[in-house]
Amino acid sequence: ARGVSDYKVADLSLASYGRKEIELAEQEMPGLMALREEFGPTQPLAGKKVAGSLHMTTQTAVLIETLVALGAEVRWVSCNIFSTQDHAAAAAVVGPNGTPDDPQGVPVFAWKGETLEEYWWCTEQLLVWPDGSGPDSIVDDGGDATLLIHLGVEYEAAGAVPADSADDSEEHRIVLETLRRSLVANPKKYTEMAKSIIGVTEETTNGVKRLYKLARERRLLFPGINVNDSVTKSKFDNKYGIRHSLIDGLNRATDVMIAGKLAVVCGYGDVGKGAVESLRGQGARVVVTEIDPICALQAAMDGLEVVRLEDVVAAGDIFITTTGNKDIIMATHMARMKHNAIVGNVGHFDNEIDMAGLARLDGIEKIEIKPQVHEWKFPDGHSIVVLSEGRLFNLGNATGHPSFVMSASFSNQTIAQIELHTKRDQYAKEVYTLPKHLDEKVARAHLKAVGATLTELSKEQADYIGVEVDGPYKPENYRY
Ligand code: NAI
Repeated sequence: ARGVSDYKVADLSLASYGRKEIELAEQEMPGLMALREEFGPTQPLAGKKVAGSLHMTTQTAVLIETLVALGAEVRWVSCNIFSTQDHAAAAAVVGPNGTPDDPQGVPVFAWKGETLEEYWWCTEQLLVWPDGSGPDSIVDDGGDATLLIHLGVEYEAAGAVPADSADDSEEHRIVLETLRRSLVANPKKYTEMAKSIIGVTEETTNGVKRLYKLARERRLLFPGINVNDSVTKSKFDNKYGIRHSLIDGLNRATDVMIAGKLAVVCGYGDVGKGAVESLRGQGARVVVTEIDPICALQAAMDGLEVVRLEDVVAAGDIFITTTGNKDIIMATHMARMKHNAIVGNVGHFDNEIDMAGLARLDGIEKIEIKPQVHEWKFPDGHSIVVLSEGRLFNLGNATGHPSFVMSASFSNQTIAQIELHTKRDQYAKEVYTLPKHLDEKVARAHLKAVGATLTELSKEQADYIGVEVDGPYKPENYRY
């Protein structure tokens, strides 16, 4: 057995609770369990060093242990300062066969409520194995691990970290400081590291956007697989996942009655659609803001009013951002909201809500109701309630998406890792989506659990609609 010596989590004694939840989750993650059965014997990831930056939850622990079951040597961090479930992190370190005194799982650097400095420290630890070597591949969610490596390589080539930059956020300053220290300690750290990385598999919309941008600018240093745009990821996790976890976050944070309230959902993409269903399911009156005429028309045809934020800002009770864009709810908006209006974001980054602007307002007072729930009191005496400091509150105030839907997402992640490691020469420094037959395979693996019985095509029918009996059943341009 190999012990784990380098890790940092909140409390290893939470491991047995974490293990019980992992065992419950395994039952709900048929896709991952099927992949263990299919690929366990051939060990396609044998000895491969896989570094993962993705919310350290119970479901992620099942993903980690699937990668290990396929032979990988895994290290892990969370991709958000509030999303770690400390018992899951402890169980991942201890492993199924270890004890808190003799951990046998994987090195995890993650706890709930990291500072931004700690967050980037963890990401640095993620990328260095005890023997000093770097990862062979990356599992990323939002692209922070990939970003650190790319910036590192560029600054090492330049011999310096730029002193000024267009991004004046606190977080960017911390990233630059991290790289400045690294450059002094080892001027070729990330350059060497990047050479041996065969690719990254990216989980979410925002991370994928970053990858395509790097590829467009010819700066991408290794192949990327866009897991988000597998149909069995974005049309399930982003939509049905948020439908479950959005009200979970709202309830655990505030326990406010949702029925009858006016909820404003900014963005009607996959996550927005799930958010709306979640709130409507509770009887909220929901209105939507959009910039895209297609999504706006979809919202209208779904029976929703499409409005501008300015026009509902004084009337809304609950405001949810789902855009993956920045500057959606500004401090000036929040100042006009009604007393105790709730503001929360489920888009990937915290810049959808202008938290910095809010904090800068003259005479504003921030009162902690409990961790990740804050009352912001304006000088005129009215308050608003902000969840998870403007970061993904379905993970910050609750436990994120449930196991079953994450099984589909993480089956795509696992398949994408196998693709990278077994078909290395087929991937260039571009961004790829998984082929449709693998998407269909992931869906197929989840049908039995929901009691679905698939109709089989006859050869004649297959010929008539121009597909193979075994699929793929749709052309690439089909939109589901
Ligand atoms: P999407 O691209 O399908 O939807 C975003 C929508 O926001 C688009 O329709 C876009 O037109 C709209 N939008 C952009 N700027 C806007 C503005 N200024 N005002 C109003 N609408 C605007 O993306 P998707 O897949 O729905 O993801 C959204 C975000 O959620 C991303 O940041 C993604 O990474 C994140 N995400 C979060 C999850 C969670 O568990 N909290 C799960 C999955 C994704």
